[in-house]
Parts: sequence; C-alpha cells; structure tokens
Amino acid sequence: MEASLTRALSYGLIIFIILAGKAFALPGRTSKTRADVPLDSTARSWDYAIPSHVQNGVARARFDIPTTGSKLDTGALLTLDSPQISLINSSVFDWWYFDAVSESDPRESLTVTFFTSTAAAFPWLPSNESSVLIAYLWASFTNGTVFEEYVPATIATVAGGENASSPSSGSWSSTGLSWAVSQDDLSQYETLEPHLPCGITSDTTTLEIAPHIGWVALKPDAVGQVDISVKGSRLQFQGPAYHDKNWSDQPFDKSVHSWYWGHGQIGPYSVIWFSYLALNHSSDTTYVSSYVARDGQVLVSSCNSTMLTVRPIGDPETCARYPPQGGDVPDGFHLEFDLGQEGWLKANVSGTRIAGDGKHYLRWAGKMTGEVSQSSTDQGNTAHSVESLLTGSVIYEQFVLAE
Ligand SMILES: *[C@@H]1O[C@H](CO)[C@@H](O)[C@H](O)[C@H]1NC(C)=O
Ligand SMILES: *[C@@H]1O[C@H](CO)[C@@H](O)[C@H](O)[C@H]1NC(C)=O
Ligand SMILES: *[C@@H]1O[C@H](CO)[C@@H](O)[C@H](O)[C@H]1NC(C)=O
Ligand SMILES: *[C@@H]1O[C@H](CO)[C@@H](O)[C@H](O)[C@H]1NC(C)=O
Ligand SMILES: *[C@@H]1O[C@H](CO)[C@@H](O)[C@H](O)[C@H]1NC(C)=O
Ligand SMILES: *[C@@H]1O[C@H](CO)[C@@H](O)[C@H](O)[C@H]1NC(C)=O
Ligand SMILES: *[C@@H]1O[C@H](CO)[C@@H](O)[C@H](O)[C@H]1NC(C)=O
Ligand SMILES: *[C@@H]1O[C@H](CO)[C@@H](O)[C@H](O)[C@H]1NC(C)=O
Repeated sequence: MEASLTRALSYGLIIFIILAGKAFALPGRTSKTRADVPLDSTARSWDYAIPSHVQNGVARARFDIPTTGSKLDTGALLTLDSPQISLINSSVFDWWYFDAVSESDPRESLTVTFFTSTAAAFPWLPSNESSVLIAYLWASFTNGTVFEEYVPATIATVAGGENASSPSSGSWSSTGLSWAVSQDDLSQYETLEPHLPCGITSDTTTLEIAPHIGWVALKPDAVGQVDISVKGSRLQFQGPAYHDKNWSDQPFDKSVHSWYWGHGQIGPYSVIWFSYLALNHSSDTTYVSSYVARDGQVLVSSCNSTMLTVRPIGDPETCARYPPQGGDVPDGFHLEFDLGQEGWLKANVSGTRIAGDGKHYLRWAGKMTGEVSQSSTDQGNTAHSVESLLTGSVIYEQFVLAE
C-alpha cells in the first residue's frame, strides 16, 4: 500500500472531514440563501445558507459548464463543488459524499454524506424527518460492526472558491459534522483534474452522467485521515479517500433501474466506475463513466459505453442477473476498462457490506485484484506489457430499484 499512498500524496490532496462539535460558520459573513444560486454563471466563489425546510417552486439544475478549448477555466473548476440545484423542493436532491477506507484493513471505513433532499426524492432518507438537511454517517470496524447514524440539521452553509478560507467547505449546523478541504490544498485544488462524467470536451462539458443525474468526482483518489469517536468507539486510520457530489432535478426512483458505482486502487492505478441502466432502458442503453489514472496521469476519463463493462459476480440465475432485479445481492463485480490503443484493465472486486438496506441498496468495502495490459509504440516498435496480480482497496455500491 506504500505505492498507493505515495501516488495519492503526489496529487497533494488531503481531505479533512472535520468532525468537531463546533459550527463552521465564520463571524460576520453574509451568506445568500440557496435560491440565489446563479447556475448559469461561473462565479469564482460561493457562500450559501441552505434552510432546512422544503422550498416551494421549480428547481433548476446545472448539468453543464462552459469550457474554453480542452480545459476548464478556474471559475468553472471552482464552482464544481458548489450547490448544483437552485432550491430544494420535494422532488430534487443534491448531496456531497465523502469516504475513506483503511489502507491496512479495508473492513475499516468511514462514509459521510451531506444531503439536501427529502425522502420523497431519495427514498433511503428517514421519511419522518422534516429537515432536508441530513448528515449521514457510516463507520465500519475490523470486527465487521457497522455503525450508521444520521443527524438532521437546522441550517447548512456551504462556501468555497477563490479567496475563501477553504476551497470547499460545508457545515450542517448543529450536527457537529462538517467538511473542509484544507487551505494548503488550494493551489492543487485548482490544478488537479476532477473526474467529470465524460471528461472535458470543448465549448461545453457535461456534468450529466445519465438523464437527470448530475455527478462530479472532485477527489478521485486522495489521502484520508480519519480519527473519530463513534458511540464511544474510536475509529482511526489513514487510507484512500474520495469525494464526489451528485444531484438531480427529479426523484431518484423516477430515473434509476440499476446503478453500479465504485472507486479503488490497484497497484499504481486509481479507478472509478459507474454503470447505469435507466428505468426506461428498453433500448439497452447503458450509461457509463470510466476513469483510470496511473501515478496521477489520467489514462481514461470517458462516458463511451463501449469502454467499460461492469457485471455482477455470482449465480447468474439468482444473485448475479444482468440486468439485475431488486434483491439481487452479488458476490462481487467484474470490471473491464478499455484503456484505448490496445490497452485494458480487468479487475474483480469483493468485500464486506458497510451500508444499505440489503435489498435495493448496498455498499461494500473490500479488495480489488486485477491486471493491466498496455502496448506502446516507440519508433515503429510496439512493446506489450502486462502487469498482473495487482491489488488494492475499494469501496463500491449498487442500487437496484426494479422488481
Ligand atoms: C480574490 O482576490 C483577488 C486579489 O485581491 C481579487 O483580484 C479577486 O477578484 C478576488 N476574487 C474573488 C472571487 O473575490
Ligand atoms: C421541483 O423542481 C422540479 C425540477 O424543476 C420540478 O420538476 C418539480 O415540479 C418541482 N416540484 C414542485 C413541487 O414544485
Ligand atoms: C424518526 O424515526 C427514527 C427511527 O425510528 C427516530 O429515531 C427519530 O427520532 C424519528 N424522528 C422524528 C423527528 O420523529
Ligand atoms: C466491534 O468493534 C466495535 C468498535 O471497537 C465495538 O464497539 C463493538 O462492540 C464490537 N462488536 C463486537 C460484536 O465485538
Ligand atoms: C452518488 O452518490 C452516492 C452516495 O450514495 C455515491 O456513492 C456515488 O459516488 C455517487 N455516484 C454517482 C455516479 O452519482
Ligand atoms: C428514457 O428517458 C430519457 C429522458 O428521461 C430519454 O432521453 C430517453 O430517450 C428514454 N429512453 C427510452 C429508451 O425511451
Ligand atoms: C467509443 O469507443 C470506441 C472504441 O472503443 C470507438 O470506436 C468509438 O468511436 C467511440 N465512440 C465515441 C462516440 O467516441
Ligand atoms: C476474476 O475472477 C474470475 C472468476 O473467479 C477469474 O476467472 C478471473 O481470472 C479474475 N480476474 C481477474 C482480473 O482477477
């Protein structure tokens, strides 16, 4: 795991999930309410207060950002972690997701999601809570115990961008849960490449991974340092960490048939996968997003559906059907990434369950094993190389809503 640690550090990304009892709000600062989110502009900073009650009105969502040539400008880059929905009515969702898994034992993990959503829009939220601001935490220990807890907030503040005290921060007051990307990372934060669903394309870059689903992986592979106390038990580790956010302008169960997602490391490679069937997937359309980087250099960042295959492992008659049906709980997943120019990455993932309802929604942490083949041409000579027996840790998830 030494290698993956060095690799992640070479990105210079350290996410601190600050789990302190203190609210994050800065004195004297004037936050706008979320309804003011200027989704059509790329303001270079933001500071919003999000009320806890459901708002009336039609919500707008940001699903693309302007691109200059093949690059995102700083303004566009800096707005990726800001709210992407103008207001939270009962049928939309927007959330910030963080996870970290121990480099020494993948049974130790921490996941925190900061939701702005009702249970009508995302059915795994508690339906008896009136606050749309739910901070949700899952902690898993080496003995297999998983603690799951949520806390409703009374107000949330999210801020960031240029000149802000942190390039991205959020606080769900007064749950004690907040995040802040450390100030030292500011320069790296501006230059690192987040993974966007289809990579970066000229003029306009899409943030929509599938119809009505927005997604940005802001920290594809970072180093997480976790030291928290959950219900009297200390959870302390260092390991790969990840941050993304997703949003939609319609309820989750109006869009999704099935959703496979995960991220991990094998050897020097960082990978992210997403493979999705829409509720109306009659035409056999799989929406995918694939990301593979080696030592910080991106090899693939694409939503071309021919370049990634994700399939459940297990009995194809029962738990590992494809397309899957609600209640299917596979033993793991098999992944095949096309790396272009005759290269590929194949891997299997398996793990222990760290979240979910056991039927329609499951999340696991565990191990990834696989091999990578690449060919390179130098002065007309083609050299093939295969790296096998690569291993690393992984966090992955499935939602299957279809019955
Ligand atoms: C950040 O500070 C610089 C230098 O003071 C200023 O030029 C720039 O406009 C500021 N940016 C924002 C978004 O306030
Ligand atoms: C909430 O906003 C969405 C997206 O614009 C819209 O489709 C929906 O009708 C709105 N819901 C309500 C209750 O206004
Ligand atoms: C909602 O239900 C959960 C679980 O039964 C309970 O712990 C919580 O206090 C309830 N919240 C409210 C606001 O009633
Ligand atoms: C597992 O470990 C956690 C954290 O130390 C502890 O709270 C819990 O009681 C343990 N569970 C079992 C079944 O030993
Ligand atoms: C969406 O949110 C979930 C949290 O439930 C997260 O695990 C996943 O990374 C996100 N993925 C996509 C593709 O939106
Ligand atoms: C499914 O719905 C989306 C919009 O929600 C639409 O773009 C797509 O064409 C539909 N696909 C089929 C097969 O009907
Ligand atoms: C998708 O990738 C395949 C090769 O794997 C390529 O032939 C095809 O042109 C690509 N499609 C798009 C839309 O780029
Ligand atoms: C994945 O697992 C299958 C079945 O156990 C095995 O045949 C295959 O070699 C594995 N692939 C990799 C890349 O480890």
